[in-house]
Amino acid sequence: DEGGGSPTMMSGHSTHQDHGGMVEVASLTGDLAAPADRKFELVAQQQKIRLSSGAVVDAWTYNGELAPELRVRYGDMVEVKLVNKDIDAGVTIHWHGYNVPNAMDGVPGMTQNVVKPGESFTYKFRAEQEGTYWFHSHQQASEQVVKGLFGSLIVESKNKAGNVDEELILINHDWVTDQGEKTAFGEEDETQTKQVEPGRKVKLRIINTDNYSQKYRLQGTGYQITAIDGVDIQEPGQLTDRTAFRVASGGRYDLSFTMPEHPVQFKMGDGKDAESPGVIFYSDTLPEMQPFEKESELFDPSHYGKPVVNELTTAAAFDREFVMILGNEMGFYNGKFHFLWTINGKVHPHTPTFVVKEGDKVKTTFVNRSLTEHPMHLHGHHMIVLKKNGREVATPWYTDTLNVYAGETYEVAFLANNPGMWMDHCHNLDHAKTGMILHLMYD
Ligand code: C2O
Ligand code: CU
Repeated sequence: DEGGGSPTMMSGHSTHQDHGGMVEVASLTGDLAAPADRKFELVAQQQKIRLSSGAVVDAWTYNGELAPELRVRYGDMVEVKLVNKDIDAGVTIHWHGYNVPNAMDGVPGMTQNVVKPGESFTYKFRAEQEGTYWFHSHQQASEQVVKGLFGSLIVESKNKAGNVDEELILINHDWVTDQGEKTAFGEEDETQTKQVEPGRKVKLRIINTDNYSQKYRLQGTGYQITAIDGVDIQEPGQLTDRTAFRVASGGRYDLSFTMPEHPVQFKMGDGKDAESPGVIFYSDTLPEMQPFEKESELFDPSHYGKPVVNELTTAAAFDREFVMILGNEMGFYNGKFHFLWTINGKVHPHTPTFVVKEGDKVKTTFVNRSLTEHPMHLHGHHMIVLKKNGREVATPWYTDTLNVYAGETYEVAFLANNPGMWMDHCHNLDHAKTGMILHLMYD
């Protein structure tokens, strides 16, 4: 068991007390004086990158790499110095899903100034959530994330001893290359191979950086989904290899399986598209990719594992309740006639601001009346999903990016335990760019 990911860990920054209406500065910045256990430097820079197929990307990267990995341990004080070498529009780092103090959230114009070429900004936070996270620039994100300003943040548990033998981080991304668009896991846009001895336990950390949700298939053995958006599933059930699963834009799934005698293949999509990237795990001689059988079901987190039990249940007395109607219409935005993505009929900055007090139990209802899915991402907090389409879910689960499909309704709850000013937005970054953003504020 990797422990952790438990609801009690979500209250990372609850040291704030009421000092007669004054917000204590440390509750917004964290403990800046604490010594750093891990220090990193990330240099945002233009960089040509070659994918495994040979296609070349004119990328914008951190440290010249596609998707660098920051790996720390639970409890570490992490310090990351961001330096902008030559990205003219300026950059930041947002720690997606990581409930950092507000001043470290990386939203330009809100929590910090954008970091211009030649400038730097140092982020500091304590790693108080285990699991799979990622980070990306939040400046003109619809362009900067697409061009490559992102990486993974992996927080290992303190007492993890030998429960995983092999681990692979698979970050899928659509690159714009000199040969058109290419889908890849990092820079691997072809099927990769990995030799693993039978009996070894393999863990995949899947991160979806694209604007739309993605489906994945594993074939060759049963598997478990062990975490969603960084939070461990308690007592995850065994899924058959005919089960596909779907990860929201910005979302992360961890899965694990025990390597059998025969090969196991993992692929994006339903496995049918030979072009989409994948991984073949094999023990002996390298096999050819085999065709995928038709999937028999799609993984449903609302019926999986043991339900999270805490004070945020459908029966809780909520201090605040908000409704977000997600819609679309035609209209003018920034002087151009556009397809607009609206919240309660408005586009940012005319969308509502949700105001909470520290300690509030907050319920939010998402109603999708638009034509497409919206991955709703709340900064600084994890949400627990309580109801889907009006019905209580069997196994409430934690998420920071909930994919709401056209026609769906979800009720989610969170504890207002991280003071500051936060974004709540669609993680289809093109939708966010054309209006689908609102703010959450602590009064
Ligand atoms: Cu991953 Cu506001 O973003
Ligand atoms: Cu959207």
